[in-house]
Amino acid sequence: MRPLDATPLNSAEEAAACARMLVTTEPWITLQLTFERALERLSDARYESYAVRDDDGIAGFIVLDMHGLLAGYIQTVCVRPDQQRRGLGSGLIRWAEDRIFRDSPNVFICVSSFNPRARQLYERLGYEQIGLLRAFGVAEHDELLLRKTRGSWAEFRQRASSPEVEGPVGRRLEVGGAADRRIDELRSSR
Ligand SMILES: CC(C)(COP(=O)(O)OP(=O)(O)OC[C@H]1O[C@@H](n2cnc3c(N)ncnc32)[C@H](O)[C@@H]1OP(=O)(O)O)[C@@H](O)C(=O)NCCC(=O)NCCS
Repeated sequence: MRPLDATPLNSAEEAAACARMLVTTEPWITLQLTFERALERLSDARYESYAVRDDDGIAGFIVLDMHGLLAGYIQTVCVRPDQQRRGLGSGLIRWAEDRIFRDSPNVFICVSSFNPRARQLYERLGYEQIGLLRAFGVAEHDELLLRKTRGSWAEFRQRASSPEVEGPVGRRLEVGGAADRRIDELRSSR
């Protein structure tokens, strides 16, 4: 299989194409996502948005939130209907995991209670339910919070600073920086 060629969204047109895909696709129809809100998220510099393209435009895309308590949260993953069930969604998620696990020991994702097929996919990829957000997006449905983890922040920090596994110094400093901030937050909250 060819390696996945996912690169950042690179224009307002691409962001608009992704927003159009979302608002015409379940679960976002039921969740009442508007084009404006979708576009706002896809254009928000706090999130990282990556896409895979083909001759017809955006074939699939994924949006990551690398900040806050749930750093490493896959906010959105969507594959164009004619490209579904060919491995692209799994490929995008695995690709995102590689990126997230460089900076965090956790990958989080939510799935709507009425989307059992997506839930099955995530469970096959190793995600476990760790929470339930009742009546979260709309009053009629819940969101299940799932996680795939490589351990605690303390273990992650230790691995990142261990001479046996560290990469180049720049990489180590970057990883250690994220973990150090977490440890400092914990210390100051005691
Ligand atoms: C979910 C999704 C990202 C998976 O991408 P994909 O390229 O189709 O997935 P893969 O080919 O890697 O894996 C196939 C599995 O994805 C899931 N899946 C496929 N089509 C799906 C769809 N329309 N909706 C939900 N899950 C779907 C099924 O578990 C499927 O396994 P199966 O073929 O044994 O039924 C993609 O189907 C999609 O964008 N669906 C609509 C939007 C959505 O549900 N996004 C997830 C929100 S949490």
